[in-house]
Amino acid sequence: RAAEPAPTPALGWNSWNTFGCDINEQLIRDTADAMVSSGMAAAGYEYVVIDDCWFDPERAEDGSLRAHPERFPSGMKALADYIHGKGLKFGIYQVPTELTCAQRGGAYPGATGSLGHEAHDAQTFADWGVDYLKYDWCSPEGTLDEQIAGFTLMRDALRATGRDILYSINANSYHPDKNGAKYDWGDIADQWRTTEDIKPVWRTGNPNTYPMGVTDIIDVTEPLRDWAGPGHWNDPDMLEVGVYDVEGFPGLTDTEAAAHFSMWAMLAAPMIAGNDLRSIPDGVHGILTNRAVLAVNQDAKGVAADRVRDDGDLEVWSRPLAGGDVAVALFNRSAQAAKISTTAEEVGADDGRLRMTDLWTGRKSFSRGEISADVPSHGVVLLRVRS
Ligand code: DGJ
Repeated sequence: RAAEPAPTPALGWNSWNTFGCDINEQLIRDTADAMVSSGMAAAGYEYVVIDDCWFDPERAEDGSLRAHPERFPSGMKALADYIHGKGLKFGIYQVPTELTCAQRGGAYPGATGSLGHEAHDAQTFADWGVDYLKYDWCSPEGTLDEQIAGFTLMRDALRATGRDILYSINANSYHPDKNGAKYDWGDIADQWRTTEDIKPVWRTGNPNTYPMGVTDIIDVTEPLRDWAGPGHWNDPDMLEVGVYDVEGFPGLTDTEAAAHFSMWAMLAAPMIAGNDLRSIPDGVHGILTNRAVLAVNQDAKGVAADRVRDDGDLEVWSRPLAGGDVAVALFNRSAQAAKISTTAEEVGADDGRLRMTDLWTGRKSFSRGEISADVPSHGVVLLRVRS
């Protein structure tokens, strides 16, 4: 397995969670500007990714994909150049089938999927300067073998262009049996979705059916932890930090959003923001740019966290980091604040004197082996433990 282009999980932004199909080149340029001016780029975010609904519903006469003439009148090469000019990278969306999800759902006209156009589309993306491709199944049909074949075809087409393009896949959308969520895609893609779509809600109780909440996704992704590692990552879907009013879901509280962000860091997940970067509330900004938490996510060892204790709604997760530190999440799913306790031994830290930093408050403390904190309802206390 090659470690490039994702030696650590991708950090970036994607248009879907807030804007859905309502996208245009000014929004994307403004987002790129905001990624820099907000300090997110300095904190490590680099990909600006356009999701579904960017394309002309008709291919050109020679079969080429082209940008939607009214939404993206300057074209994708110009947009990529703009994004690159900001020191950022450019991502785009396509499907291995005939219809994108928006086309299948009737929200967007045409049938422009890459099926039968893989090499041509990959070359178009490379010519435009694309650095990241999100490739989304979007069909209730197809066996797992057909999915593997379809995703492999585009992997090879991307490689044949010679350009470094991060390959992000989703085998789940519209697929009823979710077989793709039970397959290790590490030889095919740089990151792969583990579930159906996330929405800005703590819990839906759905096993792996649309829509998924933060805790539902954690539960589906946790058993897949061994699949994650440098160059190949489980993708529990994009961030809902600062995303409000979607499909009847009001959005996460800041406490829930910090827990969501912390757990994605622990899972070694891609951190793809989904909020409107043009106006970021202070609380949301503080979450998205917490460098100590991002450092856990980006840790070079690339090992995903293990749930080392599960007392019903109260959990302890531990993630070994390069250099011997351990990240520990005390995770409270319940409706009440609770004290959660663990030990150095349980989280895999060496016994003896522990130096602990709370990554949200910055508070430092010491211990002889006991690790314990009061954790708010739907919250996390995230610690970096050095022994
Ligand atoms: C389903 C994916 O899971 C979403 O993230 C988004 O890409 C939509 N498709 C777009 O139609």
